[in-house]
Amino acid sequence: MPDRYAVIGNPVAHSKSPQIHAEFARQTGQDMTYERLLAPTDGFIATVEAFHSLGGRGVNVTLPFKGEAFGYATRLSERARAAQAVNTLKFEGTAIFGDNTDGTGLVNDVTRNLGCAITGRRVLLLGAGGAARGVITPLLEQQPARLVLANRTLGKAQGLAHNFGGSLEAATYAALAGGQFDLVINATSASLTGALPPLPRGVFAQGALAYDMMYGKGETPFLAFARVEGAATLADGFGMLVEQAAESFFIWRGVRPHTAPALKLLRQATD
Ligand code: ATR
Repeated sequence: MPDRYAVIGNPVAHSKSPQIHAEFARQTGQDMTYERLLAPTDGFIATVEAFHSLGGRGVNVTLPFKGEAFGYATRLSERARAAQAVNTLKFEGTAIFGDNTDGTGLVNDVTRNLGCAITGRRVLLLGAGGAARGVITPLLEQQPARLVLANRTLGKAQGLAHNFGGSLEAATYAALAGGQFDLVINATSASLTGALPPLPRGVFAQGALAYDMMYGKGETPFLAFARVEGAATLADGFGMLVEQAAESFFIWRGVRPHTAPALKLLRQATD
């Protein structure tokens, strides 16, 4: 019997994780299956436990259950603790290990796939919701020259800056005027509704990378703005999606897959 894995969310039909993990399993010769599990919004734990009792070995967790998965895990990684969210569960006997691979996925995509160093660079992160919170620790571990978190609601950004002990600077969008950044990451949900975060002009430094965590939306208003503003490289979140999956795969299987073939498959499927 192959080992069983799944992604749990609501909705989950759109998830590309089964294709990604199928490619990883093929490439590394792992005997496993990976399916989609739709959980009712009030039935996350029941769905996980049913899957576990049928022989499931681990799951990826997507919206809206990452906070609940954080509470459900009996052992947490440091990065999950910092993010207060879990996207990967691994069943280990009676223990349930919870990890968060989103931030590592972003950092690996930026540094390896896009060839953009974060160390010593000026980084601007937009948004202060779950998506932003999940990537702060891995970004700080790269030791950027500065990490500024801009949010419409300043209080939320200040709350996160406080939690991260001052290594993170909170700002309003208006306060960014006159500043320049080498890497600008959109972690707001603005792209979902076709909106543009109210960035002032001139924040993209020469050679800057503009990164939208959103994927499958074509050129988002943020990326279109970055292009007009002269950002040197534009990237969507497909690379992060594949890299976070590779990190989860490693946690479960102890094998690191190559990510380029899965990324190519996804891009071909959405072109
Ligand atoms: P997620 O978990 O995806 O991060 P969230 O917790 O709802 O979702 O957070 C959404 C983030 O996108 C917030 O930072 C929100 O800003 P506010 O805290 O000020 O609401 C941000 N956001 C959403 N739409 C936006 C827009 N049109 N412009 C700028 N920021 C936006």
